[in-house]
Amino acid sequence: MQNTTKHNDQTYVAGTYGRFDVALDKASGASYQDEDGKAYIDLGSGIGVTLFGACDPDWVAAVTTQMNTLGHTSNLYFTAPQAKLAQLLCARTGMKKVFFGNSGAEANECALKVARKFGEKNGRSTIVTLWNSFHGRTIATLAATGQDKFHEHFGPFPEGFCHIHANNEAELVEALTSGKVCAILMEMVQGEGGVIPLNKEYVQLAEKLCRENDVLLMVDEVQTGNGRTGSLYAFQQYGITPDVVTTSKGLGGGLPIGACMLGEKCQDVLGKGDHGSTFGGNPICAAAALNVISRLNDDVFAGVREREAFIRKELEGAPGVAGVTGMGLMIGILPERKTSAQVAADCLTDGLMVLTAHEKVRLLPPLNISYEELKAGLNILKKNL
Ligand SMILES: Cc1ncc(COP(=O)(O)O)c(C=O)c1O
Repeated sequence: MQNTTKHNDQTYVAGTYGRFDVALDKASGASYQDEDGKAYIDLGSGIGVTLFGACDPDWVAAVTTQMNTLGHTSNLYFTAPQAKLAQLLCARTGMKKVFFGNSGAEANECALKVARKFGEKNGRSTIVTLWNSFHGRTIATLAATGQDKFHEHFGPFPEGFCHIHANNEAELVEALTSGKVCAILMEMVQGEGGVIPLNKEYVQLAEKLCRENDVLLMVDEVQTGNGRTGSLYAFQQYGITPDVVTTSKGLGGGLPIGACMLGEKCQDVLGKGDHGSTFGGNPICAAAALNVISRLNDDVFAGVREREAFIRKELEGAPGVAGVTGMGLMIGILPERKTSAQVAADCLTDGLMVLTAHEKVRLLPPLNISYEELKAGLNILKKNL
């Protein structure tokens, strides 16, 4: 069975993914099973997506109810799930308007367009991003991404992007006071870049400089958002008010949806015809996200922080662990003796799914994972570190 899946995939699916030699078949919560019947504990949530675990019954009920009521319509008409979701996101973030797309890259594309149109009034078009950032795989979001390895083969890229080093205040001041910049886009915790949180002082300085220089402060919460770091969005722990917040991944809990939230300063920058998406904010994905966002409450955030403390206690100072970084249930572990890829492969052999981010092993477990599963998973991880 597994061989058929692998054969068909390798024959017919574009070879963009370096897959593990496993064909997953079914799942519930943090437990997965492959086509040979082997069981796995999941500490990756499909890269930070299935916040309440796989096939969560409440989420499945919300989605199937919506499917049986009103499915795809297009954005030519109003639909209640999209409108309600936008209202809920604004109420819980202080943002004013939301554009819906289908992925993180699209949420960021929207932010980049908002930045460019915002800068039209004073002839500014440069968008600042950080080295080591990750913002997506489209040509524009690759231009924003501050990692050269993603740029090979795909140039030329659109002009008007400038990268600075994270936590370097002098570079930040120079860029944001240059008079050329319309926006800065940054992740509060660089996820793909190695699970590295930004310093609070640096982020607060960015906010101050943005205010003083009429620059948009845009926060990419594609990975950090939706409860992952122990608050609804990570910026809420940094004491800042961004002008733009983008998110995706966990937002739909397993269905594709991305959101670009706009604050007071730029809520009306995009007008009719400026942007659009056939599927963006469709009733089914919006119903999925409504289910997720309405369940992300203080109890869940407290649970995230407790599980983070548990993971840190298990791993900090454990044999083979050179360091632990991250925020909430977004954790990076630096292996002392092996590469992160080797640890991930060895864990999979032992029935544990983990992620990597550069030299780190990365954990993005379901936010409600049971302590029993978490402990069992960490034991496998510790053995392989
Ligand atoms: C911070 C960040 N931004 C954007 C993206 C791109 O999201 P997507 O793969 O949904 O396009 C990712 C994906 O890992 C991400 O981590």
